[in-house]
Amino acid sequence: MEVSCTSCTGCHGPNYSGGKIAAGPPDWPHAANLTPDPAGHLVKWTEAEFINTLRTAKRPDGTELHAAMPRAFGQMTDMELKALWLFIKTVPAAVTESR
Ligand code: HEC
Repeated sequence: MEVSCTSCTGCHGPNYSGGKIAAGPPDWPHAANLTPDPAGHLVKWTEAEFINTLRTAKRPDGTELHAAMPRAFGQMTDMELKALWLFIKTVPAAVTESR
């Protein structure tokens, strides 16, 4: 399977708006919209909630992330995760499109 696990855009799309993961197996859910689009979750999360979600693979509401979302990203350092959060906050809102 040739999905890139080294960058978020490999699954969440070039503009982070999520959608179908073309290279993923058919039982994978759509990647989540990471932009501040009102239909997404991240617009409502704090930095701590974002970091905790990647660390525990559970959202603030307690629901678990599908195994398609790599757990390895939760092993980044606090500094890396904080930098990632700051970066994600600069991405403009975009609606999930079908790719
Ligand atoms: C191999 C594919 C893949 C890669 C690479 C990937 N993700 Fe995901 N991610 C997913 C999928 C699929 C979901 C949706 C999981 C679900 O519906 O349970 C998801 C969900 C999420 C969520 C939960 C969002 C929400 O609204 O519930 C966050 C946060 C997230 N990803 C962040 C990232 C970040 C940051 C990166 C890069 C460091 C990344 N992901 C890389 C596949 C991926």
